Amino acid sequence: MTESSTIQVSDREFKSYLSREQIQSEVQRVASQINADLQGVERPLFLCVLNGAFIFAADLFRCITLPQAEFTTIRLKSYAGLSTTGEVRVISGLTEAIEGRTVVIIEDIVDSGYTMDRLIHQLLGFGAGQVKVCTLLRKPNALKVPNLQIDYCCFEIPNDFIVGYGLDYNEQGRNLPDIWVVK
Ligand code: IMP
Ligand code: MG
Repeated sequence: MTESSTIQVSDREFKSYLSREQIQSEVQRVASQINADLQGVERPLFLCVLNGAFIFAADLFRCITLPQAEFTTIRLKSYAGLSTTGEVRVISGLTEAIEGRTVVIIEDIVDSGYTMDRLIHQLLGFGAGQVKVCTLLRKPNALKVPNLQIDYCCFEIPNDFIVGYGLDYNEQGRNLPDIWVVK
């Protein structure tokens, strides 16, 4: 991948931004932090937010060495096209018992923060013992929720729309192994 490479996803052009090697090294770094922090925690539950986080979650969870780690998914949606709708829809809920447990949310990107804020409060409302937030990316300048809790983050990025490594533009581009930014 060269600096100048450009691709088309749906009706937009994107340029290269983060390589698969950069991503893997950050995933490993964050996983090591989680492994250290959650040592001895009983049955920590890793909760992948679908669809966007599925590839990140697979790579991250493979690097988790906690012997009692468990994994599940939840499906939410707040984005249409290039911007957040502000309204977060729960597409499919959680079936696992989470009372008293440590839940690690695995998210692709925290943008306005509305999705994460709502999910953290829902999990605590369902009786989670503690909630940790692990996100691949965050856009600090887009954050609308003051003091939003984020425990682990691979990359902080400017307010640009990105695609690839699970993240979509109008449902396309999730299969790209690297991350691309809109031109
Ligand atoms: P928030 O509720 O505004 O924080 O939006 C978070 C959700 O919006 C993420 O889980 C993504 O699915 C989506 N999203 C935010 N920014 C981007 C982006 O740059 N590319 C693709 N999806 C994004
Ligand atoms: Mg998402």
